[in-house]
Amino acid sequence: MSVILAIESSCDDTSVAICNNGKITANVIANQTIHQNYGGVIPELASRVHQQNIVPAVQQALIDAKVTKQDVKAVAFTRGPGLLGSLLVGVSFAKSFALALNVPLISVNHMHAHILAHFIDDPKPNFPFLCLTVSGGHTQIVLVKDYFDMEIVGETLDDAAGEAFDKTAKILQLPYPGGPLIDKHAQLGNPHAFKFAVPQIPDLNFSFSGFKTSILYFIRKQEKENPNFIAENLNDICASVQYSIIQILMNKLKKAAQQYDINEIAIAGGVSANSGLRNTLQQLAVELGWKVYIPAFQYCTDNAGMIAIAGYHKYLKNDFVGQEVSPMARMEF
Ligand code: KG4
Ligand code: ZN
Repeated sequence: MSVILAIESSCDDTSVAICNNGKITANVIANQTIHQNYGGVIPELASRVHQQNIVPAVQQALIDAKVTKQDVKAVAFTRGPGLLGSLLVGVSFAKSFALALNVPLISVNHMHAHILAHFIDDPKPNFPFLCLTVSGGHTQIVLVKDYFDMEIVGETLDDAAGEAFDKTAKILQLPYPGGPLIDKHAQLGNPHAFKFAVPQIPDLNFSFSGFKTSILYFIRKQEKENPNFIAENLNDICASVQYSIIQILMNKLKKAAQQYDINEIAIAGGVSANSGLRNTLQQLAVELGWKVYIPAFQYCTDNAGMIAIAGYHKYLKNDFVGQEVSPMARMEF
């Protein structure tokens, strides 16, 4: 029985998962709601809540997976990238737990893990495949040649796609994180009600900061004419913004698929939970003959299940780290 316990604490979710012989048998996620009051994650608060959540989350994961501490053969953890204080809680706990159990430690890159979440359930992608990873901190097109042989072929030059969702939500006075709320309102609106300029960025790269500013100016201008503009048009604004973000993402993904002549296409990261993005990808699969891979909702946003599966594939290669390991806010891909 190869039981791996995995810990994810890179941002504001404390998550603990168990991988038993390559199957995820527990994936506990303790969300932090405290940040809703502030319009964004407050790092100091996040690390304090991780400290409160981590032990109960570990206990719950062991119960869910029907295993005991003594069954654990290795401890995997997110080393980075992420918020340093948040990572420190998970890394310190993982190190102490592994030391106490006398089992090896496995270091996992959070961005690799978002992609490797595709190896939790069937169908699993075939190498090489392209993965569009879209989260609150990253927007990348990755050429995935093997489990740990990946190359970023395009990325954002400024804001991430998730930030475009969250910052638009803030402009619309919706609470943090706004992505899921934009998605909800967008489902009731007309995606062609308003037009937003799509940034012209070379190669396979993205830019979202000008896009966000154009939305801010558009809303301000409309509010001058009609102070109730947001309230009266919320669904249409959300649908139109979401439509534009999806167009920006899909244009580059189509270009990458053509350039690398690959039709195995995956999406990963928090924004891959977006219903519009998921539907558009399904349509493109039919239109362009792509084989698309879309993760289950629980493995889109931050979760330790993805850390556990990444850890499992490192465990098979005896790829362990020592107790001297420390978290990295910025971590090489
Ligand atoms: O991967 P993730 O949980 O954390 C990071 O590593 O950043 O991604 C969080 C991001 C947030 O920006 C959140 O608003 C966005 O994913 N998100 C969504 C949806 N669900 C989460 N964006 C659009 N539509 C959604 N349904
Ligand atoms: Zn993430």
